[in-house]
Amino acid sequence: MKNRLVTVFGGSGFVGRHIVRRLAESGARVRVAVRDTEKAYFLKTCGDLGQVSLVPVSIGSDEEVARAVEGADWVVNCVGILYERGSRTFDAIHVRGAERIAKAAARAGATRLVQLSALGADAQSPSAYARSKAAGEAAVKAAFPEAVMLRPSVIFGQDDGFFNMFADLARISPVLPYFTHVVPHAEGGGGTKFQPVFVGDVAEAAVTVLSESDHGGKSYELVGPTVYTMREILEMILHYTDRTTWICGMPFWVGRIQALFLQFLPKPLLTPDQVKLLDIDNVSDGSQPGLSDLGITSTTAESIVPTYLRRFRPYQQQKKLRLSER
Ligand SMILES: NC(=O)c1ccc[n+]([C@@H]2O[C@H](COP(=O)([O-])OP(=O)(O)OC[C@H]3O[C@@H](n4cnc5c(N)ncnc54)[C@H](OP(=O)(O)O)[C@@H]3O)[C@@H](O)[C@H]2O)c1
Repeated sequence: MKNRLVTVFGGSGFVGRHIVRRLAESGARVRVAVRDTEKAYFLKTCGDLGQVSLVPVSIGSDEEVARAVEGADWVVNCVGILYERGSRTFDAIHVRGAERIAKAAARAGATRLVQLSALGADAQSPSAYARSKAAGEAAVKAAFPEAVMLRPSVIFGQDDGFFNMFADLARISPVLPYFTHVVPHAEGGGGTKFQPVFVGDVAEAAVTVLSESDHGGKSYELVGPTVYTMREILEMILHYTDRTTWICGMPFWVGRIQALFLQFLPKPLLTPDQVKLLDIDNVSDGSQPGLSDLGITSTTAESIVPTYLRRFRPYQQQKKLRLSER
């Protein structure tokens, strides 16, 4: 690992920044390929002077992608989007962008490539996001057969977009909604099932498959130790933020109608495609290799989530907590 040059696309994102940090700790030289290098300056402090460098790149440009992987031993692709906007389509980012990176990595002589895919990537999925992740995997494999696919479930950690978003919502909204096909308190009425995985474990998995030689061409499903329903996740969030917001199960058809409007927000809270994605449980059946096959013990949500959700507690609770810590 020491002195290897690793190019990380999307290294400024939630997962990417953890991978960059772990690579730098392991002694690698890291080239972070991002659209906006100014937004990624904070990554420079992850390593010694000159260990982490930043290059501007548009993943729609063959020349810029080729320049970003020039001389790289290994490449990681963490670029992804949750909703489409203008020319930023799932096909452009998850399929053609990933393929462009894989082809450039192969041409540049990189020996290892890690592709951040997603649990539930499926060519037959009703969700365009999940179909594009499957098409991206296929395109990457065709261009770079030894590429390793990492398929995480929903990821938690300090700057995640999932737990933080609902904790924030609980501060301002009297209700936290989730979607279910069954009456909320009846058996199976807890909504979609997830197996949240810690971002530190995802970063560790990426570094492990890069640094060991026997993972080429494999796919790993990255999940946490516990399966939760959406209702249980919301209950956990309210517990750790000390809030009593009403959790309300709604039929999926209500979600579809809400999404028709919410998709037009500058940063959409919900899109019609996400409602389709939420209609499928996001858990591993254990038939595919996972974290334990990489020698990683998965971290529980209960040991991490309270450490960063406490800032969402009501002011008086935060004050009490600070005083009790003195
Ligand atoms: N977070 C999860 O729960 C989760 C779960 C399963 C799979 N994944 C997958 O894991 C990967 C990383 O996710 P994340 O949570 O770290 O996402 P993120 O925080 O949104 O980061 C995505 C990264 O992609 C970059 N990016 C987006 N559009 C781009 C474009 N057109 N050209 C170049 N770069 C672009 C972003 O750069 P800017 O900052 O410039 O936008 C950012 O660095 C994604 O492939 C995602 O699908 C994530």
